[in-house]
Amino acid sequence: MKVPLLDLKAQYATIKDDVLTAVAEVLDSQVCIGGPKVAELEQKVAAISDCKFAVGVSSGTDALLASLMALNIGPGDEVITTSFTFFATAGSISRTGALPVFVDIDPRTYNLDPSKIEAAITSRTKAIIPVHLYGQMCDMDPIMEVAAKHNLYVIEDAAQAISATYKGRKAGSIGTVGCFSFFPSKNLGGAGDGGMIVTNDPALHERLVAMRSHGSKPKYYHKFVGGNFRLDPLQAAVLLVKLPYLDAWSQARRDNAKYYDSHFSTPNITTPYVDPDCISIYNQYVIRVPRRNELMTHLKQNDIGCEVYYPLPLHLQECFQSLGYRTGSLPEAERAALEVVAIPIYPELDSAQRDQVIATVLSREPLHKSATRVIFE
Ligand SMILES: Cc1ncc(COP(=O)(O)O)c(C=O)c1O
Repeated sequence: MKVPLLDLKAQYATIKDDVLTAVAEVLDSQVCIGGPKVAELEQKVAAISDCKFAVGVSSGTDALLASLMALNIGPGDEVITTSFTFFATAGSISRTGALPVFVDIDPRTYNLDPSKIEAAITSRTKAIIPVHLYGQMCDMDPIMEVAAKHNLYVIEDAAQAISATYKGRKAGSIGTVGCFSFFPSKNLGGAGDGGMIVTNDPALHERLVAMRSHGSKPKYYHKFVGGNFRLDPLQAAVLLVKLPYLDAWSQARRDNAKYYDSHFSTPNITTPYVDPDCISIYNQYVIRVPRRNELMTHLKQNDIGCEVYYPLPLHLQECFQSLGYRTGSLPEAERAALEVVAIPIYPELDSAQRDQVIATVLSREPLHKSATRVIFE
C-alpha cells in the first residue's frame, strides 16, 4: 500500500462541488482583484486568530516581507530568528537589506530557544521573528519579555501554525504581527500561493494595506515603496470553502499524532514533544532517529512518503556564507537537520495507512538497537 506524505486529492474530493461553485462565483463576477471574497476571508481569519485586523497577501513569504517593510526594517538593521526554518523567514529579512542573525533552537520543540536571544541583541537589532515550526507555537512569554526589554518588534512566522495556541492565545495574536501561509500543504491551503498578516495595531494595519499595493493611498499616490503583494480572490474563494473545516482537520492530525505517539514508544525514535502550554496543529509530524537517512531509504522503498524539514540549517546556506557562521555555530539546529524526518500525518489518512506507516517504521527498528538513545526530557 502506498502512503503519500500528503494527499491533496483526498481532501479535494470531500469539498470539490463547493470549491467549484465558489470559483465560478468569482469568475462570473469578474472581480479579479480584491473584492468581497478577500474581505470576507480577512475578517474570518482575523476572528479565528483573535486579532482585530487581517491583510490578505500573495504568499507567506510576502506576508513576512511586507511586515518587515511596513515596520521600516532595512539596511543597517538586524533581525533575530531561528536557523531551523524554511528559507523564506531569513530570505525576507535579507531582501529588505537587513541582516538575519541566527539563534539556536530548543532541541525538544525545534523552535527558537528564548534563553539564547538576549546574547544576540545589538544596538542594530530591530525585531525578532519566532517561527512556530511544524504547527507548534514558540515559548512566547520569554520572547515577548526580551522584546519589550529591548524595544523590538516581534513578527510571528505562523506560516505552519494557523489556529495553534500557546497558553490559550492564538498564533499571530501575541507579536506585533503574525504571518500565515496558504501554501497548499499547510493546514489551511489554497489552490496556489496565498498568505495573510494579522495584527491588533490599527496604524500598522493601514500601512500594510497600502504596502500590498505599492504603498499607494489614495490610488496612484505613493507615500512609500511597497509591492504587489495582493491575495487573489480566486484563492480567497477556495480558502473560504476550506476554513470551516480547519479545526476538524487539525484535530484529525492530532488524533493521528496521538496514535503514532503510542506506537513509537521505542528508544530509538523520539516522537514530537508538545509543550503542555501549547496545542499543536501538527502541520508536520516529525520524528527524530539516529540513522535518519537509512530510515528514509527504507520508507521510500516501501512507498511511504517522507521528507526532511529542513536538511541544511539557514546559517550554513551558501547565500549566507558572508554572515560568518560555520559548522558548529548552532549545534542543535545542525543536529536536528541530520536526525529529523516527517511522516504522513494528513487528516484523510485512514487507519490502514497509519498502521502501514507504523509497521514500516518499526520494521527498520532492529538496525537501530545499538544506537544511542536520543531523547530529551
Ligand atoms: C516557516 C515558514 N515561513 C514562511 C513560509 C513561506 O510561505 P509561502 O510558501 O506561502 O511563501 C513557509 C511556507 O512554506 C514556512 O513554512
